[in-house]
Parts: sequence; structure tokens; C-alpha cells
Amino acid sequence: MKTVNYMKITFPAMAKNESLARSCVAAFAAGADPTVEELTDIRSAVCEAVTNAIVHGYRSVAGDITLTLKMTEDNCLYIKVSDKGCGIEDVKKAMQPLYTTAPEEERAGLGFAVMEAFTDSLRVTSRPGKGTAVIMKKKLTDKFES
Ligand SMILES: Nc1ncnc2c1ncn2[C@@H]1O[C@H](COP(=O)(O)OP(=O)(O)OP(=O)(O)O)[C@@H](O)[C@H]1O
Ligand SMILES: [Mg+2]
Repeated sequence: MKTVNYMKITFPAMAKNESLARSCVAAFAAGADPTVEELTDIRSAVCEAVTNAIVHGYRSVAGDITLTLKMTEDNCLYIKVSDKGCGIEDVKKAMQPLYTTAPEEERAGLGFAVMEAFTDSLRVTSRPGKGTAVIMKKKLTDKFES
């Protein structure tokens, strides 16, 4: 499907940049006139992906997160959140609801479940020691559809 808009930003993996990423995606999506619910869903999914990159990918190590956004002609928003952090040994296991490697930090292991629930598709690729990429697709309501 034809790409009608795109953008890419890279920012340091710091907690305060989580809201920056959320606002960025919301502003980008606004061009496609999404519903309030769609915007809330998108913000929540991005929040989980970026938080994971900060707290799990890099832990206390400094690094960058890249957010890539694409809007296609059929009103689908593609969001990619990638880091060059520690990576995930077993992606399938990590994506299971309630699985967490940080229970001592009172994490619930529900981030991937939230991303899955609030988007139309979720794909995670990762290589231990190399990093992780989370790709989500959200179909936005086409105002001209009847
Ligand atoms: N970007 C990442 N880099 C390295 N490991 C990751 C990354 N994202 C997720 N993980 C691993 O996958 C597990 C599950 O992630 P998920 O977001 O579902 O739960 P959580 O972050 O542990 O808890 P919650 O999101 O509910 O606070 C994490 O505990 C972590 O081990
Ligand atoms: Mg999480």
C-alpha cells in the first residue's frame, strides 16, 4: 500500500522521553483524523513499547531509541519502536501475558498484552546483545467509508 506520510526520530532512552514519543505519535496520527479512542489506544501502545526499551532494553545503560512512523493510503498507521539494547532471548515467552523478568520492580508482565489489545497487529523481532524492534499496525477509521 502506498505511503502517504512518514517520519523518524531518535532520542535518548530516558523516562522523560516516553511522553515525548507518545505526543509525537499522536501528532503524526492527527493528520489522519483519528477518533479519540484510536488516539488513546495508540498512545497506550507506544507508552508500553518505549517504556520497555528504556527499562528492559537499556536498563541503566545509556542508548538511543528510534521511533519510525508511516501512514499508508488505506489509513493504516505503522509504528516501529527500536532499541539497540540487550535484546530478548525468547520473544515468544516474553510476549506471554504476566511474563516479566522484573517482578522486583513490580512489573506486571502486561506490556505486550496491552500493545496487542490496542493495535491490529504486533510483531517483535529481537537479537540478544543487538536489540529489539516492535512493529505495530493500527487501522484508523476511514471517515469516507460508509
Ligand atoms: N525492548 C526490550 N528489550 C529487552 N527486553 C524486553 C524488551 N521489551 C520487553 N522485554 C522483555 O519482555 C518481558 C515482558 O515485557 P512486558 O512489557 O510484557 O512486561 P513488563 O515490562 O515486564 O511489565 P509491564 O509492562 O506490565 O510493566 C520483560 O519483562 C522483558 O524481559
Ligand atoms: Mg513492559
